[in-house]
Amino acid sequence: MKVSVIGTGYVGLVTGATLADLGNQVVCLDILEEKIDMLNSGKSPIFEPGLEELIQKGIKTKNLIGSIEIEQHVRNSDITFICVGTPSDKDGNIDLSYIKSASSTIGRALRDKSGEHTVVVKSTVVPLTTEDVVMPNILKKSGWKRENLGIGMNPEFLREGSAINDAQNPDRIVIGYADEIAKKTLNHLYEPYKCTKLECIPRTAELIKYASNSFLAAKISFVNEIANMSNIWGIDFQEVAEGMGLDSRISAEFLRAGAGFGGSCFPKDVKALAAAAKNSNVESLMLKATLEVNDIQPKIIVKMAEERLGIIKGKKIAILGLAFKPDTDDVRESRSEIVIKELIEKGAEVTAHDPEGMPNFKEIIDVSMMPTHELATEKADCVIIMTEWNLYKNLDLRSLLQRMNGNVLIDGRRALNAKEAEKTGFDYKTIGLG
Ligand code: UGA
Repeated sequence: MKVSVIGTGYVGLVTGATLADLGNQVVCLDILEEKIDMLNSGKSPIFEPGLEELIQKGIKTKNLIGSIEIEQHVRNSDITFICVGTPSDKDGNIDLSYIKSASSTIGRALRDKSGEHTVVVKSTVVPLTTEDVVMPNILKKSGWKRENLGIGMNPEFLREGSAINDAQNPDRIVIGYADEIAKKTLNHLYEPYKCTKLECIPRTAELIKYASNSFLAAKISFVNEIANMSNIWGIDFQEVAEGMGLDSRISAEFLRAGAGFGGSCFPKDVKALAAAAKNSNVESLMLKATLEVNDIQPKIIVKMAEERLGIIKGKKIAILGLAFKPDTDDVRESRSEIVIKELIEKGAEVTAHDPEGMPNFKEIIDVSMMPTHELATEKADCVIIMTEWNLYKNLDLRSLLQRMNGNVLIDGRRALNAKEAEKTGFDYKTIGLG
């Protein structure tokens, strides 16, 4: 099929590259020329394992190209995916301005086209957006008859760091369709995938996405709350998680307690769903609690350091990990940001390291960053692990202790073996270890 994808963020690029790999003719579209130039030269504009190889393969087979000529390529395709960002406004509502402008562009592109065309929203949008915002906008701008236009909503469930594998081996594909054209087109496009395909109306697809992310976020906040209790009662929460995870109804996934969830999805999506519910006069106590617990976790990390160091002012504290999780350079809503801000406010001298996230983090806080973890931890009174990169999991604890001034080691992600850390001579503290 001829596929056009508007937006070359992480969803758009992964969608474009994997659909091209299936043999479709894909054009990735964006208004930012430098991103398109990168793409056409075989470079990935974002850090995502395996993506650059897939882009290069797509360019070589001519199944994938990038372009800024949005209208022309939308017109020449059979199906257009909207993969633009949906950021939060100050009240947590999603900002639909990119969605609106993408649908207007599609509408203008279709003005001179005859036959059928399908438009599918892949961006995360609150229920009713596809039917009440995207569809009317396209119809108005194109002057098209409703019966020629296919309208669909097909959420993505990709995790950063494993997005290619997630896209190529999905647990399920949700096909939200408002008409038979979209239903037929999406089923045809996804025919090569043999997983369960759930067909539903667009608003259901929209809520499946929010409910899935909010449920996972709530699961993390729940385990963090229980882990905080475990701390007080002398219980190792990892054993509790193991016991819980053996129940297939609970599942062993997403039971890792720690500094809380970050990233571009969970915090934004929980807030957006809560805001949408509020706008419709529905109370959302669970969503509120999910966010509240998540705000507490980084503060607990700072408190752990404070209890051990006595006073934070003037202490040298090294933060290992700035990315919101390992295997990504994404630092959005990273828990490290909260921890670092609080430590600086309390007068600590903070140094930081992350294998991939330092350039992005520099744009948020101008904290002192070191090219290696060894340099970052030199003469530190306290080291705090905030992202469980393999590099930190495999730290040589003995030489770390030798480099440091003090011996306080706070593990915000349970990345290390507690017994080993204590045996080495660290004053080691982590979430949920009694
Ligand atoms: C998340 C969802 O997992 C994807 O299914 C979804 O498609 C994506 O959002 C999205 O909406 O685009 P992602 O944000 O890449 O994916 O990251 P996750 O691997 O889900 O981790 C999110 C955060 O939760 C991280 O900060 C991680 O450290 C934290 N986490 C995760 C925990 O604290 N404990 C856990 O047990 C699992």
